[in-house]
Amino acid sequence: MIPRDTIQTIIETARVEEVVGEFVTLRKRGVNLLGLCPFHNEKTPSFTVSPAKGIYKCFGCGKAGNAVNFIMEHEHYTYPEALKFLARKYNIEVEEEEQTPEQIEAMNEKESLYAASAYAQKYFSDQLFNSEEGKSIGLSYFKDRDLREHTIEQFQLGYSPDVWDAFTQNARQNGYKTEFLVKAGLTIEKNGNHFDRFSGRVIFPIHNLSGRVIGFGGRILKKDEKKAKYINSPESDIYNKSQVLYGIYFAKNAIIKKDNCYLVEGYTDVISLFQAGFENVVASSGTSLTTDQIRLIKRYTPNITILYDGDAAGIKASFRGIDMILEQGMNVKIVMFPNGEDPDSFVRSHRSIEVEEFITSQAKDFIRFKTDILLKDVQNDPVKRAGLIKEIVQTISVIPDQITRSVYVRECSVMMEMAEQTLMNELNKLLRKRFRQKTDQQIPDEPVQVPEFMQEKQVEVELNDTAFQERDVIRLLLNYGNETIEFEHLNEDNEKVMIPVKVAEFIVGDLAQDEIQFHNEIYQKIFDSYTQKMTAEEALPDEKFFINHASRDLANQAIDLLTSPYELSPKWESVARIEVTTEAEKLKIAVVNAVLSFKAKKVEQLISENQEEIKLAQQEENFEDIPILLKKQQELKAISKSINSQLGRVITR
Ligand code: CTP
Ligand code: MN
Repeated sequence: MIPRDTIQTIIETARVEEVVGEFVTLRKRGVNLLGLCPFHNEKTPSFTVSPAKGIYKCFGCGKAGNAVNFIMEHEHYTYPEALKFLARKYNIEVEEEEQTPEQIEAMNEKESLYAASAYAQKYFSDQLFNSEEGKSIGLSYFKDRDLREHTIEQFQLGYSPDVWDAFTQNARQNGYKTEFLVKAGLTIEKNGNHFDRFSGRVIFPIHNLSGRVIGFGGRILKKDEKKAKYINSPESDIYNKSQVLYGIYFAKNAIIKKDNCYLVEGYTDVISLFQAGFENVVASSGTSLTTDQIRLIKRYTPNITILYDGDAAGIKASFRGIDMILEQGMNVKIVMFPNGEDPDSFVRSHRSIEVEEFITSQAKDFIRFKTDILLKDVQNDPVKRAGLIKEIVQTISVIPDQITRSVYVRECSVMMEMAEQTLMNELNKLLRKRFRQKTDQQIPDEPVQVPEFMQEKQVEVELNDTAFQERDVIRLLLNYGNETIEFEHLNEDNEKVMIPVKVAEFIVGDLAQDEIQFHNEIYQKIFDSYTQKMTAEEALPDEKFFINHASRDLANQAIDLLTSPYELSPKWESVARIEVTTEAEKLKIAVVNAVLSFKAKKVEQLISENQEEIKLAQQEENFEDIPILLKKQQELKAISKSINSQLGRVITR
């Protein structure tokens, strides 16, 4: 835990232009700096840094935030990791808050496992390069597999001698406790004896995201029917198989750059592809893919290309796993290698350019691939055909994005020579069913996603709401809250005087007086912050207050509103005809106009709500309420008229 005031110091010290400038070349453009966005591919710069506001924003991809957010996004750090990174940069001492003895012990235990694994990796590599046995058996094996020395070093490959306890003995002599060797999965304990897990195998270390060794795979060299070709470290406190992908540490930057991730099956596939220049490659290492692994890839790209062995018998079995990838909203392509080849063997027998060409020409969209494969089975059997429709629609239904789903429905209907509407009906049935199941379960902390086709009513309501007006008011509040506008006033002697008022004071005062609430919770929170400061007679909140706000939702909204380029609304065209001269006057008109429009819309809402009640009361013959409601309606209409005439004075429509 980093203490709150240290976090504050870090946020206040870190200058966004310096932090971003470390990674992006920035050029001055007016009061801002401009560069090529590091988060998406672009040729003309739309990535803006505002030193004054302390934020960056890309007008191409929409990514925005402060210095801490930039480091989190760019380096894929967690919040505390990003803070520590900045603390180091600015020489700010981070004293972590005191930990409990249990926490310290857990920390120490983990560190001990890391230490044992790091030591083992060095030992195995040393054996590979420096021992006679390692060189003649291990190193020559890797070289036979066309791995270059540089690659072997980069992936930290190794060799474990064919002696049953060589590593364990050596590690103990060097001060590593047996307890941790066992817990790290390097040593096996049996009937009080200790022996090496990986003896007589070549070693593939497994790295976590920051490059630390957390586990190993070991491949046998001789053909031995009784022994497994590969053995792997068991799970431990530092090695959680479902959350790790082999190669991710080496691949992550290339994945971002290529905006695509190749997914293969084995250690050697990863290394061969990487060596051939296809660096955006990871493996699930023999186990079936988990949601955590998919999310890991998704941190870097929404695109996955799965490279299948040519003889992959289990392709149909893997369909389910691929649905999981689609469910995450990712795009999946499939490449099948020729019979008998896996990516490793293919890469070794072809030039890189041929591999590249092969992958690009063969990559098939997963849903098309699946439809193709299943269609071959079906031929003209009508029962099987019905099953096929169900299968395909099931897969399409897991895709979160509605537009993508309808594109696939269309394509598959062509492939299956079937009416689009038939597939669409099947799909809607499935979605409705799933939606009902979901709402029945009532998972409280996960908002239920209503399928789009069931949302029509909501859309109508949204069109009639105050979202636009609320946004305009808050945007003015945030951007101009501290500026002054002047209002004409008649004093006691009936003389015209100009009274200066802060924009925030005007907006807050006017809306509070009419007890007007924002429908949007975040806007309400921003509004409340101003009210609070004003009642406490403190300085009004400035931009930084919101940009660095602990609530990420609120900060995002604030950044969005603070960076929305100021546009004259269409109505302004007519304002131009009235004589508007000064900026201050323009601002005053904009503010008054925004507040009035918001109020007008609110009253409109009240009127239609009241109208509904009147209708209801009439239906129920509730004669007591009808006159009251009718009177209210008159009053509301009068208010509406008054507001609109004020609006008309500000602005001639
Ligand atoms: N695997 C495993 N245990 C096994 C067999 C395979 O853990 N007994 C995992 C390994 O991660 C392996 C992957 O599954 O890399 C793919 O297996 P396979 O295709 O058999 O191995 P290759 O990677 O092709 O290995 P090699 O080329 O060395 O034979
Ligand atoms: Mn292989």
